[in-house]
Amino acid sequence: MKIAETDGDSEILLKVVQYIYIRDFKKRNKMLLRLYSILITYSMTFCTPVFASDINAGQQIVEDVCSHCHGLRKPSAQGMFPALAGRDQRRIRDVLRQYRSKTRLSAIMNNLTGSLTNQDINNIAAYYNWLDPN
Ligand code: HEC
Repeated sequence: MKIAETDGDSEILLKVVQYIYIRDFKKRNKMLLRLYSILITYSMTFCTPVFASDINAGQQIVEDVCSHCHGLRKPSAQGMFPALAGRDQRRIRDVLRQYRSKTRLSAIMNNLTGSLTNQDINNIAAYYNWLDPN
């Protein structure tokens, strides 16, 4: 193709080719972006560290309820209350589920966990795990 020729037709042709190329380039980018966002959504849904959780929602419950006995950091408020900051996320989750189902007994903790949902428990476990114990 002799695009270098300076007559008017060729220049118009060149502009059209450029236009189509750029338009398609944008279209390709849009498709890539869509692909990336699908991938990111997918990985956030299925590849979260331990289980889906919302640390901020966990913090709310911990500060309102749990911190009165367990404190927020080590050492927790008083010796009889186990410290939870920085503890393993799965372990906190499992223990809370056991308290809720009363397969693990503690008058206080059985009462407190009775109304927690699985999501609440996940959130609490994520928050305590995230908290720096020092
Ligand atoms: C009124 C005081 C009190 C409050 C409030 C309280 N706890 Fe407890 N928690 C205890 C006591 C006491 C134990 C020890 C029970 C036992 O082992 O007999 C305990 C034990 C635990 C344990 C087990 C720790 C371990 O290492 O075995 C976890 C986890 C826990 N609590 C989480 C929570 C969470 C989450 C909340 C808020 C929803 C909460 N607690 C609120 C008093 C409290």
